[in-house]
Amino acid sequence: MITLKVNGTSHELDISPDMPLLWALRDTLNLTGTKFGCGVAQCGACTVHVDGQAVRSCTITAGQVAGRTITTIEGLSGKVADAVTKAWQQLDVVQCGYCQSGQIMSAIKLLTINKKPTNKDIDAGMGGNICRCGTYVRIRQAIHEAAKTLA
Ligand code: FES
Ligand code: FES
Repeated sequence: MITLKVNGTSHELDISPDMPLLWALRDTLNLTGTKFGCGVAQCGACTVHVDGQAVRSCTITAGQVAGRTITTIEGLSGKVADAVTKAWQQLDVVQCGYCQSGQIMSAIKLLTINKKPTNKDIDAGMGGNICRCGTYVRIRQAIHEAAKTLA
């Protein structure tokens, strides 16, 4: 048994410790907001927070995060998360939406450590998140907008 603490709730799961966290979230906990893109830590679609750090859930195993604090897009709360999700809506960032959970998780992490990121900071902080629809310009604008509301 593995204990995963996700979005404030502890779950005892009868899964292999080698199962990727992404599988555990989507297939055993039905938290399908986190997406599978590449499976090899290259696209960022599967980004979640573990103890406040943005991680690629496709390449970290359930065993590695047992007992740690995991937050998915479904469990967002707090000032930074509110500012980011509001800015995303205001600026209508989303196109197909597939990459956007991961983008939002990375944006929250970026704004948590850097309250006023420059374009360069944003490009560096968001560089691991790929958007096939090319929403990068709106993502950047939304991060600036969220930063303004947090100032
Ligand atoms: S699915 Fe995990 S980084 Fe692409
Ligand atoms: S909005 Fe379609 S992949 Fe990013």
